[in-house]
Amino acid sequence: MNTDQFIAKSTLKFVETASFTWQTPSNIALVKYWGKSNPQIPKNASISFTLNNCHTITRVDFIKKEKSDEVVFNLFFEGKQKDEFKPKIAEFFRRVQSYCPYILEYEMTINSENSFPHSSGIASSASGLSALSLCFASMAQSLNIPHDEDFYRFASTLSRLGSGSASRSIFGNLVVWGKHLLIDGSSDNYATPLSSEVHQVFENFQDTILLVDKGEKQVSSTVGHGLMNDHPYASKRFEQASENLSKMKAILSSGDLDAFGNLVESEALTLHAMMMTSNPYFILMKPNTLRIIEEIWKFRKETKTPVYFTLDAGANVHMLFPEMVKNKVDTFTKSKLVGYCKNEEYICDQIGQGPKQL
Ligand code: DP6
Repeated sequence: MNTDQFIAKSTLKFVETASFTWQTPSNIALVKYWGKSNPQIPKNASISFTLNNCHTITRVDFIKKEKSDEVVFNLFFEGKQKDEFKPKIAEFFRRVQSYCPYILEYEMTINSENSFPHSSGIASSASGLSALSLCFASMAQSLNIPHDEDFYRFASTLSRLGSGSASRSIFGNLVVWGKHLLIDGSSDNYATPLSSEVHQVFENFQDTILLVDKGEKQVSSTVGHGLMNDHPYASKRFEQASENLSKMKAILSSGDLDAFGNLVESEALTLHAMMMTSNPYFILMKPNTLRIIEEIWKFRKETKTPVYFTLDAGANVHMLFPEMVKNKVDTFTKSKLVGYCKNEEYICDQIGQGPKQL
């Protein structure tokens, strides 16, 4: 399916003022997206699970104005005007303008807040841009563009244009973004919830996020994706990611936790290996990232507890495990891992149901 149908011809209804609020979670990829082409098309399909507690709440107020050539908007983050965030949002508006031409006819005020500490290194672009996209999709819906049945796909298309991984935050549970032969309905343009059978061991799956480094990343994801263009291992990596997604689909249905752990840990280390072998090369892991990984491996070996790690484009460690071992893992976290976290901070999260309109 292509997304031309979403390109709005004109606004179909007159709306003087409107206001929409969405709460949207972050997500953690199991098979990673790393490498893209224009306009925000992934080089390989990825799969993530949507989180529950790490979320952004965004309200957008629209007030009708004379149509102009420029997008007019105000931006507040956690109650404070944040002009430094404006260029990223302005770029998002440029990309979605053909889908939401009404943005030139309204003055918009965006108010956003995160449930997780600012600069915690948690990818706020996934939750932030998906929440914003849902507000814009709601506005499009109130102007009668596009059809209701396509609402979430439309929101995911907008969200992808803001940030690739944000396309997956539009849906709950397990979500695929990128065309893949084994995933029904999958597309490069928007994400799709995984519709195949998932073993009950993954129900309420847990993610404890160990906050190793809370500073600004030295290399943004966007730059990192760009470095995949001339990367010597790129084509092999994209092939491997696609095979890994097929394997992950089978693992999610069989409930084989050892195979799950082997695949997610390999995906995390491959992602970082891509960063270390780009030119320019870079390292986002910190000494404590490695210490935590070693502790997880030791604990798993000694206690036979099914607990695994993954990483996103940063130093924090996501520790993944089934709900049935939660007490054991919580005790392990408190006794062995908090010391490696900045200010002893970590976040207990789990798989979630996706966005909510407030
Ligand atoms: C390592 O979605 O942040 O977290 O599309 O440039 O905004 P842009 O990149 P972004 O990249 C996320 C990369 C990742 C892996 C993943 O979430 O699949």
